Amino acid sequence: MAVVSDGLPCIIQGGMGVGVSNWVLARAVARLGHLGVVSGTAVDTVFVRRLQDGDIGGHVRRAMAHFPLPSVSESVLRRYFRPEGTPDGVPYKMLPMYKQMVSHARQQLTMLANFVEVWLAKEGHQGLVGINLLTKVQMPNLASLYGAMLAGVDYVLMGAGIPREIPGALDALSEHRQATLRFDVEGAGAGDAETLTLDPREHWPHPGPSLKRPKFLAIISANSLATTLARKANGRVDGFVVEGWTAGGHNAPPRGELRLNDRGEPLYGERDAVDLQKMRDLGVPFWLAGGMGSPTALRSALEAGAAGIQVGTLFAYCDESGFTPELKSEVLMGLKQGKVGIRTDPRASPTGFPFKVVDVEGMPSQDDRRTRVCDLGYLRVAYRTPSGKLDYRCAAEPIDTYLAKGGDLADTVGRRCLCNGLLANIGHAQRRGGGVEELPLLTSGDDVMVLGEFVGDREHYTASDVVAHLLKGSAPRPDRDTVLSGR
Ligand SMILES: Cc1cc2nc3c(=O)[nH]c(=O)nc-3n(C[C@H](O)[C@H](O)[C@H](O)COP(=O)(O)O)c2cc1C
Repeated sequence: MAVVSDGLPCIIQGGMGVGVSNWVLARAVARLGHLGVVSGTAVDTVFVRRLQDGDIGGHVRRAMAHFPLPSVSESVLRRYFRPEGTPDGVPYKMLPMYKQMVSHARQQLTMLANFVEVWLAKEGHQGLVGINLLTKVQMPNLASLYGAMLAGVDYVLMGAGIPREIPGALDALSEHRQATLRFDVEGAGAGDAETLTLDPREHWPHPGPSLKRPKFLAIISANSLATTLARKANGRVDGFVVEGWTAGGHNAPPRGELRLNDRGEPLYGERDAVDLQKMRDLGVPFWLAGGMGSPTALRSALEAGAAGIQVGTLFAYCDESGFTPELKSEVLMGLKQGKVGIRTDPRASPTGFPFKVVDVEGMPSQDDRRTRVCDLGYLRVAYRTPSGKLDYRCAAEPIDTYLAKGGDLADTVGRRCLCNGLLANIGHAQRRGGGVEELPLLTSGDDVMVLGEFVGDREHYTASDVVAHLLKGSAPRPDRDTVLSGR
């Protein structure tokens, strides 16, 4: 039975970029009465690659036909849609990389891509759909939010940074006003203030629509951050996802000086645990994430005063997720054969945040033999050149280029190209010529190691199996709960 407590979902299927929590997965979860979350990270590139692969099933084009700026859909189709798909070995056509200021056409493509993802996730049911974005991937965020809001997104969930200005941006965009975010420039002194803006009025030939203001959930890993956001965000924070260091994707670094264990992983301790009493004292709903993918974890989260749990890893390997079927079966088979390992890599992500990496014995994966190319650029950060202009760099780009931009050699060590690796995980690897393709870079939470227990003898499973598993033994409470089925 599908249940939400006090109007709030008790299971959130966590946002998983790039394209792992796609519209298919989010829709399946939302239809079951829980919160399905699409990832908006780099979804503009996912979107143009789906079009270049022929948009099998016509889903992308079906959603595009509903975008309220039809001329945008038309020009994007002309440029990127290849009805026959892209022949093997032919590289995908690229989007211009994001910068502080981009053309209206580039902004509109980002809006359209996020619109499509949310529109498809919401198609044909009344369930709840959210979008997940990374605060640190700043430059596309306003256009992504606006596109998602045009499709009626119900929730926005953001972590990986301090999303203090997002609530205000949601208010502004919903009221058809200009939204502004402070833009981080590496090494900038006080008084060197740059901004990112999006003004919906510049995109509409006539007064545009007022939009629903989605609920905003901040993903946090420390009480101090929750308190700061609850008190000092520039608008309403509707809840928190409290994410521990066992979660998939990026993790918050441990507090204090970085110490590593003998496997080279960051050491976390008691200081990194979130005090749930303090969370309850804030009086705002919260969900627990990271290793919560079991019926017992759900029950104990509810007993601890949480509204529920956010789960990633269990959903990441279900039939509906964006990981390629080959990759899912490599992991599920590999688990049975003891060939899967998980580690928290403190160096892999150019963001500087620890990043969880899954190793599967015998499965090719991106490593430091990759010839460095930076052509997607989502993790580039802005810096000021000696002449005072803004330029962009990424610690995973070619080392000479990074150094020529004033970057520090030490920053480049061990960095992986998350952009290209994560796109390879979902079957959109860029082709580099001579038969060379970008390799996957797989991430999951520590729970991947116990996935085998849940999967048992099955070769695959669905999102509905995950939800049924999580709810095992949980009886809906008629005094508090609203049953969504049949709504
Ligand atoms: C493959 C994968 C990708 C993820 N990507 C993101 C992301 O882009 N943004 C984000 O906020 N969290 C991301 N997460 C974290 C999930 O949203 C969720 O909080 C986490 O997986 C919960 O812990 P669990 O993996 O133990 O279930 C990712 C997790 C996985 C497994």
